[in-house]
Amino acid sequence: MKIATASDHAGYRLKEDIKRLLAGEGHEILDYGTASGEVSVDYPDWGFRAADAVASHKAERGILVCGTGIGMSIAANKVRGIRAALCHDHFTAVMSRRHNDANILVLGARVLGSDVASDIVRAWLAEPFEGGRHSFRIDKISAYEDETSSTHEAAAAGGRTVVIDHPLVRHKLGLMRNKETSSKDFRDLVQEVAGLMVYEITRHLPLEEVEIETPVATTSVFTLSGKKLAIVPVLRAGLGMVEGILKLVPNAKVGHIGLYRDPKTLKPVDYYCKLPADISERDIFVVDPMLATGGSAAAAVSHIRERGGKRMSLVSLLAAPEGIARFHQEHPDVDIYVAAVDSNLDDHGYIVPGLGDAGDRLFGTK
Ligand code: RB5
Repeated sequence: MKIATASDHAGYRLKEDIKRLLAGEGHEILDYGTASGEVSVDYPDWGFRAADAVASHKAERGILVCGTGIGMSIAANKVRGIRAALCHDHFTAVMSRRHNDANILVLGARVLGSDVASDIVRAWLAEPFEGGRHSFRIDKISAYEDETSSTHEAAAAGGRTVVIDHPLVRHKLGLMRNKETSSKDFRDLVQEVAGLMVYEITRHLPLEEVEIETPVATTSVFTLSGKKLAIVPVLRAGLGMVEGILKLVPNAKVGHIGLYRDPKTLKPVDYYCKLPADISERDIFVVDPMLATGGSAAAAVSHIRERGGKRMSLVSLLAAPEGIARFHQEHPDVDIYVAAVDSNLDDHGYIVPGLGDAGDRLFGTK
């Protein structure tokens, strides 16, 4: 059987024991980490990966381990299609299969010894689902899941807008809004806020563990697992955000896109577009400080998509509700990250209260 495994640091050792047991019995293991008991990590990061693998049928079953098993089971049961059973004994392990058709077994490494855990795993893998009246009960759970997730999907049909309201971001944004702030300070602040935002946005970048030598000993450390990133500023104001982001992710490639509005068709046309050759393999941050009407950001994303871009997020400093609505209408699959959502647009298309024209303030052109 193909089995997905995952643990946090507290469950690491027991997970490794279980992997050995599974391998010895001829199962194929898809291990989603973590890879050490030494470094404290957050169980949802690892549990969700394995649960997703089961939910998407990459694996037939999953086994998750944390200290008590509680956190992992709470996390795994949030994944649609998952029935995760936290079992501390043989009886509940058997019943979780027989009556509940549990597709994930969760164990508490600080609760169970390795022998009891092995017995639970064997019993859980061997026990078939009884079906019959138990199927009706499970069907009710699935029906509820379908109902509620379609409600959530409908609510999210406009896409996800994440406001990064870290105190440092809010403070710096306040400085940027002030019309007395000089171009030089404004430029520095844009870079700083862009960097702080991307620091938050990249918090789920996958890591892998490698062994290194410190001056004192051999140890394992985490390193980014080679996720490819691209930054695409929308000309010209987007340029002001690039350096701040590159400071954090210096290996990201930078594309550029410039748009103008065709006076006849009123449609945005790209007058310049140069993207990394492997854009389709990269996670792309489209950056544009002001999401006002949403027209140019939406058009930029469409043009990048036409040229092969697949996974995109829009990173803006300020947005107007009108811009968010329009952007999400055109690109419901693209998340928007902003430092603040302002009140409205004025008759000239400026965000209110806003910060003025970001391009002019960056480059001192007014
Ligand atoms: C980690 O200390 C611990 O909180 C975690 O492994 C788990 O028990 C959470 O439910």
